[in-house]
Amino acid sequence: MEAMVDVRNVVRRFGSFLAVDDVSFGVGRGEVIGFLGPNGAGKSTTMKMITGFLLPSAGAINVGGYDVVADPIEAKRNIGYLPEGAPAYPDMTSRQFLNFIADIRHLDGPVRRRRLDLVIEQTHIGDVLDQPIDTLSKGYKRRVGLAQAILHDPPILVLDEPTDGLDPNQKHEMRGLIGSMAAEKAIIISTHILEEVEAICTRAIIISHGRLVAEGWPEAEGWRLGDLQVEPGRLDAAFRQITGAAA
Ligand SMILES: Nc1ncnc2c1ncn2[C@@H]1O[C@H](COP(=O)(O)OP(=O)(O)OP(=O)(O)O)[C@@H](O)[C@H]1O
Ligand SMILES: [Mg+2]
Repeated sequence: MEAMVDVRNVVRRFGSFLAVDDVSFGVGRGEVIGFLGPNGAGKSTTMKMITGFLLPSAGAINVGGYDVVADPIEAKRNIGYLPEGAPAYPDMTSRQFLNFIADIRHLDGPVRRRRLDLVIEQTHIGDVLDQPIDTLSKGYKRRVGLAQAILHDPPILVLDEPTDGLDPNQKHEMRGLIGSMAAEKAIIISTHILEEVEAICTRAIIISHGRLVAEGWPEAEGWRLGDLQVEPGRLDAAFRQITGAAA
C-alpha cells in the first residue's frame, strides 16, 4: 500500500503541557482512518500538525511525499482539511467563501466551474449559497466547511469530526460521500461516533492523554481493537475499556 501520510514520533507541547506524546502512524491510499479518543486526547492537535497549522515540537510528518515543515506549500496542496468548528470568514456568503477558496487553490476556467458545481451538489448547500456563513445553522456550516475541504480534489483528506452537528440524514449522506471518495484517497477522520467507525473506517487509532494507546481494524465478524475482540456494534464498550482505564 502506498503511504500518503507518515507521522513519526510526533510530539507537541503547549508550554510544559504535553498534548501529543510520541505518536506514530501511517495512512495509505484507500484507507479511512478513524481517529478516536476522549475529549482533550490530542486528536485535533495532531490533525493541525498534519495539515501544517501547528508545528510539531519534535518528530516528523510527511504528506504526499513532502515534509510539512520543510515543504509546507507542497504538503498543503495535497491536503483538504475540515477543521473543528465552522469555516473562517463568517461575513462571507457560502458562494463568496468557496470562490475565495477556489482562488487560493488556483482553480481556473472549466475545472473551477465543474469543481464548484460538484462540491455544492455533494454537500447539498445549493439553497444557502447567498447566505452569510455567520447566519447558517451548525450543520450547514459543517457542510460548507467540507465543500471547502474537497474543492481541489486533494489526494489526502483530514476531517475533524465531519459529522458533528449534522442531522441523521446528513450524517448518512456524509458517510456515503466519504465512502465514495475512499478508494482514491487517504482519509483521516476524527469522530466520537463509534458506529461511524464501523460504517466507514478501514482502521482505527485511539489516542488518550496524547499517546497512541490502541489500533483497530475490522475482522470477518466485528472488530479487533488493541487486545480486544469486539462484537459488531460493541466498539463503544471496548473504547471505554481502553480509554477509561487510563483516566
Ligand atoms: N493552543 C493551545 N494552548 C494550550 N493548550 C492547548 C492548545 N491547543 C490544545 N491544547 C490542549 O491540548 C489538549 C489536546 O487538545 P485537542 O484539541 O487536540 O483534543 P481533542 O482530542 O481534539 O479533543 P476533543 O474530542 O474535545 O475535540 C487539550 O488538553 C487542550 O486543552
Ligand atoms: Mg478535537
